[in-house]
Amino acid sequence: MRVIRLPLIGTVAAWRGHVRQLARRSVPPEAVLWQVGEGGADLFAADPPGGDGPVPDPSVPPLTLPREVIGAIETALCHSDPQRFARAYALALRLFGKALRWGDRSDAPLRRLLDQEKAVRRDIHKMHAFVRFRDVTPPDATRRAFAAWFEPEHAIVEAAAPFFARRFGDMDWVIATPSLTARFEDGLLTFAPTAHHAPPPEDATEKLWCTYFASIFNPARLMVSAMTSEMPKKYWKNLPEAALIPDMIRAAPARARGMQEAMPTLELAHVARLRPQRPALTADVGLEDLKPALDACRRCPIGACATQGVPGEGPRHAPLMIVGEQPGDAEDLAGRPFVGPAGQVFDRCATAAGLDRAKVYVTNAVKHFKFQPRGKRRLHERPTQDEISLCRWWLDLERQAVKPGLLVAMGATAAAALTGDGTRLTSRRGRLETTADGSPVLITLHPSYCLRLPDRAAQVRAETQLTDDLRLALQIAAGSR
Ligand code: URA
Repeated sequence: MRVIRLPLIGTVAAWRGHVRQLARRSVPPEAVLWQVGEGGADLFAADPPGGDGPVPDPSVPPLTLPREVIGAIETALCHSDPQRFARAYALALRLFGKALRWGDRSDAPLRRLLDQEKAVRRDIHKMHAFVRFRDVTPPDATRRAFAAWFEPEHAIVEAAAPFFARRFGDMDWVIATPSLTARFEDGLLTFAPTAHHAPPPEDATEKLWCTYFASIFNPARLMVSAMTSEMPKKYWKNLPEAALIPDMIRAAPARARGMQEAMPTLELAHVARLRPQRPALTADVGLEDLKPALDACRRCPIGACATQGVPGEGPRHAPLMIVGEQPGDAEDLAGRPFVGPAGQVFDRCATAAGLDRAKVYVTNAVKHFKFQPRGKRRLHERPTQDEISLCRWWLDLERQAVKPGLLVAMGATAAAALTGDGTRLTSRRGRLETTADGSPVLITLHPSYCLRLPDRAAQVRAETQLTDDLRLALQIAAGSR
């Protein structure tokens, strides 16, 4: 029996390295005992000299698997199942030897791995959603510092932490879990075994968060099962707002009754729909009047929370109108579209495509920033279909004033607003579609999509696609004049 001790940090990468060596040496899965971390002495045998066993057999090709398969296996390796390393090695050999087809759920070991991968993904999602930072900035510090305590079900800290490094890159933070602690300091993400097994002290941010949570809770829409499936009870003990939930659930029926009694008598919805809602749009609508009108817009609730409305900008009769989703944090503060990180990607691609931003009209499908307050940050939230439809009134107004020869929809929200088709972009990118009134719309990627991609190579590929589409848009618009 060969014993392989995997490190507590970098476990998955170490497993991958060992598996390659073991496969080259034709070591069968049942001849390997896998252990993680310190201690846990092997009862059967010592590590054989020379690392992973007999000399590599040059006639055995190196173990390679498609990227998608490796990704799924490595995610499943974060599961808490103690047998996962042995099982994944056995599966990798069968897949490589073509004794098993990837995705064949009739194979019990493969089905187990896929289920474990799903469970790990869910745990990572919950960690992203439920980590609650507390402000621990020392009085004389130059960078703000935050700490959080979280108890994941699986060994996901290394897989989940890069998300926080991207989102909270401008502050120092620590997320401690019972086994590992992720630390982000001066832009550097490191991991270490957890030394202190206790949540950080309370702070003012947390009180604000609880006040916000209590204020958004709508007793008339209480669905306990949905609430507990989205926010499972096992996470409650580390969520400050969860302490409020039992009282809110208890008081919900009485509060909902009170809301109903206090409600004014509303016009029937179908009657309201029949009445013409839109003032007639005229050709001489002043784009310069747009800003104050947008600031005052309360057609949907987003406007009430944003700093200001963000109209499009560009020449009145621009040949090209480029439509994004909605202003982000930076745009909300500046009152101008595409000036934040997504704007930088857009500018880079536009320049590479030979497109002069000053000569096109750049706008958004939704004119206010929709966000979720999270501590001191405002996290982008996608607009709903209703919000997109309500805001189309403004987009139509801009279209009527500018009359572009070609529209470019960057991302799914803009594509939905312009074509009415909200399906994914994967098969639509680079295609010409039409609006309900027959105007051509070129579909392309949203610049933020490029920013969200996990590795640099994928980002470069996506930016190249966006650049190609912008170049194509320029050619089409030039031809249509
Ligand atoms: N994302 C958008 O869709 N629009 C902006 O203006 C900024 C970011």
